[in-house]
Amino acid sequence: MALAVRFHDQRQCEAGASLRDEALAGFAAKTKQISPKFFYDRRGSELFEQICKQPEYYPTRTEELILSRAANDIAEIAGQDANLVELGSGASRKVRLLLEAMHPASYLGIDISEDFLLSSTRRLAADYPWLEVHASCADFSLPMTLPDGFDGAHPLAFFPGSSIGNFSPEQALAVLRNLHELLPAQGGLLVGVDLVKDKDLLEAAYNDEAGVTAAFNLNLLQRIRQELDSDIDPDRFIHHAFFNEAESRIEMHLISPQAQDVTIEGRRFHFERGESLHTENSYKYTPASFRDLAGSAGFKAVAMWTDPRELFSVHYLQRD
Ligand code: AVI
Repeated sequence: MALAVRFHDQRQCEAGASLRDEALAGFAAKTKQISPKFFYDRRGSELFEQICKQPEYYPTRTEELILSRAANDIAEIAGQDANLVELGSGASRKVRLLLEAMHPASYLGIDISEDFLLSSTRRLAADYPWLEVHASCADFSLPMTLPDGFDGAHPLAFFPGSSIGNFSPEQALAVLRNLHELLPAQGGLLVGVDLVKDKDLLEAAYNDEAGVTAAFNLNLLQRIRQELDSDIDPDRFIHHAFFNEAESRIEMHLISPQAQDVTIEGRRFHFERGESLHTENSYKYTPASFRDLAGSAGFKAVAMWTDPRELFSVHYLQRD
């Protein structure tokens, strides 16, 4: 059986070139850093799927619970002719809940990782033979366009997993503005947003006992070692994650427990003992602070669902 996924390539640069450029610039910065978008090579995407199954990592299963309860309401608000656009991978059970409630004619998956995008959209095409499946390889922090046929039919863009939290509030505003540009008038945006909560619960979610989040964080160094000319050794760094209350974000770092030099593409970088490479922020919002952000990007709040413990939220926004 031919599994027809219509592929659209909207990449604006080679991922390899940008890992090189961003690693060189980030390691040279006063506070060493690198973008979390580089977590997601094949191994990193697999580790992330494992994180989602850890008992401490509540966001995935809580968002699923919320969606399973709200799917029919969501389908009703989106209307009968809505197509579904998913930002991020299409492998999860979450999008399946929406596909089954909405029964859209078309689905478009947008992801930066081509491998993962193709395998997940092929799986959806196999499981839902009635669905026209499109895949677009793009970085959704940059301007994008919808393929022909999507713009006319009140698309609902689905941005699950609180991935919006991995952008700074300024970047998140730019992403929301991009999505506002992408959607036609009356287009919907369904976005999962992790909520501010007890510090211990938050920190446990990013320090699972099984060490999967640590492996995910360290895989970034493995990627640099494999894909670039580098002698960086992941065994010489340790995972560190904590909640920064003033900034309302989980911060992930890789700490060098001893002074060391590493080389990348012929350039040498020095780590002091205890110095960190900042790898990720994961911002946590209140329902009101997220609505304000979305309002600044031109979205109207239509509905919001949460779970009984108010750990996570799903917002239905509409482009004005
Ligand atoms: C993808 N993103 C929403 C996850 C988060 O919770 O910020 C990535 C992650 N990092 C560590 N664990 C999960």
